[in-house]
Amino acid sequence: MTWRVAVIPGDGIGQEVIPAAVQVLGATRIPFEFTLAEAGWATFEQQGTALPAETLALVKECRLALFGAVSSPARKVPGYKSPIVALRRELNLYANLRPAVSAPLPSSRPGIDLLLVRENTEGLYAGRERREGDTAIAERVITRGACERIGSLAATLAMQRRQHLTIVHKANILPETCGLFRDLVRAQAAAYPALRVDELLVDTMAMRLVLTPEEFDVIVTTNLFGDILSDEAAALVGGMGIAPAGNIGPEAAVFEPVHGSAPDIAGKGIANPTAAILAASMLLTHIGEEQAARRVRQAVWRVLEHGPHTPDLGGAAGTADVTRAVIENL
Ligand code: NAI
Ligand code: MG
Repeated sequence: MTWRVAVIPGDGIGQEVIPAAVQVLGATRIPFEFTLAEAGWATFEQQGTALPAETLALVKECRLALFGAVSSPARKVPGYKSPIVALRRELNLYANLRPAVSAPLPSSRPGIDLLLVRENTEGLYAGRERREGDTAIAERVITRGACERIGSLAATLAMQRRQHLTIVHKANILPETCGLFRDLVRAQAAAYPALRVDELLVDTMAMRLVLTPEEFDVIVTTNLFGDILSDEAAALVGGMGIAPAGNIGPEAAVFEPVHGSAPDIAGKGIANPTAAILAASMLLTHIGEEQAARRVRQAVWRVLEHGPHTPDLGGAAGTADVTRAVIENL
């Protein structure tokens, strides 16, 4: 069977790293059919929408996508909605999986192999923000359904790994929202008697992640906390240039590098394609091609160890050099 994949490079370095990931997927010899689609700031400027209906329809049809990054304005622009946030909501991509694994790099701490499971559809990202005179209000939405499905997935994934689940919350200050999240995730985890379950307040977690990251296996948390902690975890193991993510739902899965469009280096051919390539390897795992996924990870690891490296990792190579080296190591 041929796997159809929607390819959405987006803005900035998305246009450079996603073609690299597509090349690597092509080199695995697994039968893929790639279809390009548009999204992002440039698309918004041309078409008045950052996520055209055809793009959404294509992802729904393929059920698999590679997404680069988009440039989002840091102020409110009428009519603009972040396409990745919209995709996550429209496609019910309720879980964001962010692995952080020690890399053979001087900038990576050793001994880390953790998976951050972030709730991806609600919390403070529910889009309920408003202004009442001089007061700005954001609502934090936590629902039973979202807590149960993220809790169930996190517990299942932990059982496939080192059977240790850490629930991260701030229930001392937010007893309703975080309390509900904690209790419902715990109830899901209780289905696995062998699973070791503990919980940490998010501020303590931020500290423990710096002090003893090797102690963690699967970490499950709400949307905003997960966004922040996963960037922290990425920094421990070599930085944004090598951190991948998967957005998983019952109808589709969208894989992306964690980084943004990096306007400071866009168009120079020096973006690190590793994060996008590792996102492609997560896609392989997702479709059951674990052997190919492992080959890609091992090829990436060899290139991280021996070079060539892009400037973010202290080297002088370009995106194309790194991509070529990964493919040669496959
Ligand atoms: P960023 O991740 O784009 O860049 C942060 C720093 O890391 C920059 O110095 C950049 O050059 C470097 N960097 C990132 N990826 C790299 C790579 N593959 N190789 C080498 N260096 C890399 O984050 P920033 O600067 O905060 O945001 C830039 C734009 O990206 C903004 O418009 C933001 O809204 C958007 N963004 C989009 C995301 C998405 O589409 N999922 C995620 C994060 C940011
Ligand atoms: Mg982020």
